[in-house]
Amino acid sequence: MKGIVLAGGLGSRLHPLTKITNKHLLPIYDKPMIYYPIQTLVDAGIKEIMIVTGGNNAGDFLKLLGNGSHFGLKHLNFTYQAQEGGIAEAVGLCEYFAGGEKVIIILGDNLIQKNLKKDVDKFEKQQDGAMVFLKRVRNPGEYGVAETNNKKIIKIIEKPRKPKSDLAVIGVYLYDNRVFDIIKTLKPSRRGELEITDVNNAYISRGEMSYSILKGGWADAGESIDAYNNTINFVRRYWKNKTGKRSGK
Ligand code: G1P
Repeated sequence: MKGIVLAGGLGSRLHPLTKITNKHLLPIYDKPMIYYPIQTLVDAGIKEIMIVTGGNNAGDFLKLLGNGSHFGLKHLNFTYQAQEGGIAEAVGLCEYFAGGEKVIIILGDNLIQKNLKKDVDKFEKQQDGAMVFLKRVRNPGEYGVAETNNKKIIKIIEKPRKPKSDLAVIGVYLYDNRVFDIIKTLKPSRRGELEITDVNNAYISRGEMSYSILKGGWADAGESIDAYNNTINFVRRYWKNKTGKRSGK
């Protein structure tokens, strides 16, 4: 399975911090934000990783991450999303990289405490279709929200005004290789982007979506300036040994 880290976007919810740099290069306690999702993929046993970036600071990723040796990788791949075309468009850029394999995608501002290796191995060996992780949150309207029935997801709605559940879809997605065909059929949403939620709903309508409720900490550090600061505090206090040896107090 190939890994993809999405690190484009304008980061406008974190302005003015992101006026002169990419959101995913901002510090989360003692490391740049993007270190955390890369480590999550590495810990899950993923050896080939593509970083999709965009905007004005793309060169800084190369300087920061080099060939991935900090993470024990042999090399890293980089590509560039020229427009603000959405998460699904960014994934679409990785078809050649995926080379017919399954993919795990992680949003570059999502921090996940748990090791995902078991779920990833299971999906790789046993499952076609797609898998997402859900987490109960107090503010579901900020996320993709899953409506479930009889332990199945029946629909995901992106940032609903009146959420039908408190189950947020976190920014980690596992897909079989048909994801690239699905992306080609998508139409831009009202905000002009190809939405990852539309990809997920395509799998749901085929009856090929499974999910797991994520245990342990999760943060979407790019959701708001408060979320960004809360993430830093959370990592400092509780996060043990994520991308280094620090255990926090
Ligand atoms: C994206 C997805 C959303 C998901 C969230 C998780 O939203 O569109 O479905 O719940 O990531 O972090 P964004 O944070 O890019 O607005």
